[in-house]
Amino acid sequence: MAAEFDTVAAWTADVALDLGPDHHVPAGCRGSGGPAALHWFLDHLAPAPGSTFLDVGAGVGGPAGFAAQEAGVRPVLTEPQAGACRAARRLFGVPVVRTGSALPVAGASVGAGWCLGVLCTVADQPFFVSELRRVLADDGRLGLLVYVARQEHVEDAPEGNQFPTADGLARLLDDAGLVVQDSAHLADFAGTPGLWQERADAVDAELERRHGDDARWRTAEDQSGRIGRLIARGDVEGSMLVVRPRP
Ligand SMILES: C[S@@+](CC[C@H](N)C(=O)[O-])C[C@H]1O[C@@H](n2cnc3c(N)ncnc32)[C@H](O)[C@@H]1O
Repeated sequence: MAAEFDTVAAWTADVALDLGPDHHVPAGCRGSGGPAALHWFLDHLAPAPGSTFLDVGAGVGGPAGFAAQEAGVRPVLTEPQAGACRAARRLFGVPVVRTGSALPVAGASVGAGWCLGVLCTVADQPFFVSELRRVLADDGRLGLLVYVARQEHVEDAPEGNQFPTADGLARLLDDAGLVVQDSAHLADFAGTPGLWQERADAVDAELERRHGDDARWRTAEDQSGRIGRLIARGDVEGSMLVVRPRP
């Protein structure tokens, strides 16, 4: 995973900066779907303009940049990989805390935020979800994009990924004291506007031109290709949830 979320994240920032500001958000959305899915989250979270918005496992920071642009929030990011932390700071000028599952955030202090495409990459999922619950204010709301598996064993999963089943995810949330307020399927937001896709493709093409011979690029491509095939086969699907603390 270091290849994908550290080295390639840093290369992605270099390319996006060279291609220009219009390319930053499409380049920086890694695993979180396109603008329609992100808008669904923002509509349901309804963060106040100017408010702090926590993005856990923010990667290169595209979704946080999108939230700042579209909803006027002030994102604060957490992310364990150094290359991704630097990439998000360079592309979006946002504060990023380098950390894993233990969040250096006061309990019950977060009004809104999201955590997109992260859970399946985390080893200790109960602890990770309990941390999300701990930091949420009583009236706080969190968007979750979770890739869930149709059955327990997933053939040919990308290295380091553990996909919960829908039942397993429901148990994780329940055990942590979170309830689902709204839900949707990522597949229903599949279409990406032409210009967004063109820009994402331009970033990928330039990354391949610069680094296509590097084993780390090929590893990262292999990882994301595997996820794509699992989704196409219906073995894994993107589940979109807005959760809140159980009263
Ligand atoms: C598929 S990427 C998604 C990145 C970003 N959320 C997005 O949608 O573009 C998964 C991210 O989770 C991060 N991650 C892995 N383990 C984590 C943990 N324990 N806590 C927080 N983030 C983690 C990875 O470094 C990676 O950046």
